Amino acid sequence: MAVPHALVVPFCGQGHVAALMELSHHLADHGVLVTFVYTEYTHRQVKAALPENFSSDYAGRIRLVTIPDGLSTDDDRKDACKLLSSSMNAIPSFMEELVLKINEKDEEKITFVIADGAMGFLFDVAEKLNLPRAAVWTASTWTLATLLNIPMLIEDGVIDENGFQTGDKMVQLSEGVPAFRSAHLLWLPFEDTKITEIFFKCVEKSSESMKGISHVLCNTFEELESPFLDLINNAIPIGPLLPANKAKHQPSSIWAEDWSCIDWLNQQPTCSVIYVSLGSTTVLSQHQLGELAIGVELTGRPFLWVSRPDIMGSFGGAAYPEGFMERVGRRALIVGWAPQKEVLSHPSVACFLTHCGWNSTMEAVSNGVPMLCWPYFGDQFLNQTAIVEVWKVGLELEKEDDGTVGKEEIREKLELVINDEGIRERLTHLEEKGKKATMKGGASARNFEGFVDMMKKGKMSSLEH
Ligand code: UDX
Repeated sequence: MAVPHALVVPFCGQGHVAALMELSHHLADHGVLVTFVYTEYTHRQVKAALPENFSSDYAGRIRLVTIPDGLSTDDDRKDACKLLSSSMNAIPSFMEELVLKINEKDEEKITFVIADGAMGFLFDVAEKLNLPRAAVWTASTWTLATLLNIPMLIEDGVIDENGFQTGDKMVQLSEGVPAFRSAHLLWLPFEDTKITEIFFKCVEKSSESMKGISHVLCNTFEELESPFLDLINNAIPIGPLLPANKAKHQPSSIWAEDWSCIDWLNQQPTCSVIYVSLGSTTVLSQHQLGELAIGVELTGRPFLWVSRPDIMGSFGGAAYPEGFMERVGRRALIVGWAPQKEVLSHPSVACFLTHCGWNSTMEAVSNGVPMLCWPYFGDQFLNQTAIVEVWKVGLELEKEDDGTVGKEEIREKLELVINDEGIRERLTHLEEKGKKATMKGGASARNFEGFVDMMKKGKMSSLEH
């Protein structure tokens, strides 16, 4: 039987690259040859974050290649409008060229394409090249269900043709599934309406493309998201997507991981540490950063804080309140980027102050860690609703009138979430269900194996609708 050869193409964000690399590891472990495609810019970031002597256990089984993203070296990739439009315009033809080049040779031709669901525009290329295709959806199935229902949302007057809401309403996609605020639709929680406009176009295209695909692989599991999985016939739960191997470094982190925090965690009492990480893009004002610092300090507990070098945007790294570092001393460890999966599985961690990115959410659920939610943009607000209102495994932070989350609110909610026994019980239950799903014979494991089997038997084309 010929070895299947998958072209795996993530969107260029941290949560996308990491999730699709993890999936690639699992594919390689199941005998699939993978060609993993970074944009040149992301590849430079990933390379810079790895130790100089890095060598992958997957060399030969996962080939790393790059394509341009259509922007020039000096362009600002934090400008989401620029990045999205250039990705949509430039990446399809670069991907086509890449496949044609690889397939010029007689051996090891690409036999199918697995692309990020956020890059719906790539499925047309796969179709043109007559290659079977599958999507990977890195956010929640609930978010996916909202996308697939865009025509209904427009018809019902929840949003207009450009994706803007016609008022903040409660929306229920179907009877028996939880309702949510229309303001929390994936493309709406952005400060700049230009981002919403372009993001909506991209999302609309993705959702149309995904409707025509038989396999949308989702990082979730049946017991966690069954009402939403029931709404989508081609959503295949294969999660929680757990690390396939124990290697310390993977070529999927855009910041260098500071492993000293694991030694530090080893010295802390069980279930004592507050872990603070607001993801790869959250930016805090000077005032907000100060409130967060003091709020965590006021708990009197040990804390590990991921404070990226660009946490204050163009102002750069954090400027902490006067005397803060001296006062917290050895009770605190602040790092630029952490090996988060390792941190969340550490017994010293008591709770997670999180921006509610889906990967972070799944990592917390898989390790039974209570969450204090502080969403920033996109799907993170809907994820918060799932965490707080549907699964009841975390709490929400209230904002003041000016949008700030105050220090007292942070202190109080951290105490509440750490001491809430109900949250811990519900998490233990979900953690167990997640483990079962990915164990041999579990539903997610069977779904994944079934998917790989079909690729191996070359039956993928019969899966297309
Ligand atoms: C965004 C969306 O919000 C998310 O739902 C989507 O799936 C991907 O894009 P992002 O901001 O990247 O998310 O956050 P998240 O999905 O949580 O992914 C971040 C990843 O970075 C996680 O896998 C996390 O483990 C990792 N991380 C984070 C680290 O390795 N170290 C850190 O210090 C912080």
